[in-house]
Amino acid sequence: MDIINEIKELKKEKDAIILAHYYVMPEIQEIADFVGDSFYLSKVAAKAPEKTIVFCGVSFMGESAKILSPEKIVLMPDISADCPMAHMCDADTIEQVKKEYDDLAVVCYINSTAELKMHSDVCVTSSNALQIVKALPQKNIFFIPDKNLAHFIAEKVPEKHFIFNEGFCPTHEKMRYEEILELKEQHPDAPVLSHPECAESIRNISDFLGSTSQIIDYATEHSNKEFIICTEIGVNYELETKNPDTKFYYAKSVPVCPNMKKNSLEKILHVLKTGENEVVVDEAVSKGSISALEMMHKLAN
Ligand code: 13P
Ligand code: SF4
Repeated sequence: MDIINEIKELKKEKDAIILAHYYVMPEIQEIADFVGDSFYLSKVAAKAPEKTIVFCGVSFMGESAKILSPEKIVLMPDISADCPMAHMCDADTIEQVKKEYDDLAVVCYINSTAELKMHSDVCVTSSNALQIVKALPQKNIFFIPDKNLAHFIAEKVPEKHFIFNEGFCPTHEKMRYEEILELKEQHPDAPVLSHPECAESIRNISDFLGSTSQIIDYATEHSNKEFIICTEIGVNYELETKNPDTKFYYAKSVPVCPNMKKNSLEKILHVLKTGENEVVVDEAVSKGSISALEMMHKLAN
């Protein structure tokens, strides 16, 4: 039996579902039951009737799924696939800012550890951050860990006072402004679609900013036949599948998230066979961080 059929058989046998982020390898997106951005996958994981979730993404995704559904078995094909930005803040910093402001909400990008979520009021993703920040009653917003998403939202909500943290995504930061300018010169009719994790210089020359699925939707719903894409190269699979006659251009340095790319079909098969790489979240951390995730689901719906 080939590896794909073996995975399909084991999925049935183990009552498992495979979730995949748009940044994982195309062959995984092809066999996954659901592919999407972080918010979509978090909703699917919370509602999935299956006993086991195989989460093809990075740690904070598997961890959030486990926190929202503690009774389920969550397996990661590669347990070392972690998002560096998830660690770019700490509990002491949050508690210090809380002391400085009375009317404060700690808004935590879902790309964060469960410990950071435990000290936060609400989680957000790039697809719902604007809606959620606008809905918060507090005037002061401490937005962690990503400075780029924070600044993107802050510009759109001038009535709030933002306190920024210095976190960033190494994959998006690697893209150079000059590379995108060069692409714009080569393809003057191609709109620039970017993820808000991009640096300010790139955000400023973008025609549209949104989550991975919002970028895919934008390209699919608009009649242009070429786009410059400023996010991780994995989105190209869905972009080309949905838009076979459209050209998509990327920075020469090619944005690749090395952690998302740790997922593979072989590793999916291995965890389905062995049950290895189960996500375990400390009970106290799980209980302490669930409210920020649940608040996100409540405010975003
Ligand atoms: P999305 O929520 O847009 O899928 O982004 C997740 C991510 O990790 C971006 O780098
Ligand atoms: Fe984290 Fe960046 Fe990879 Fe997204 S692309 S998972 S933010 S390192």
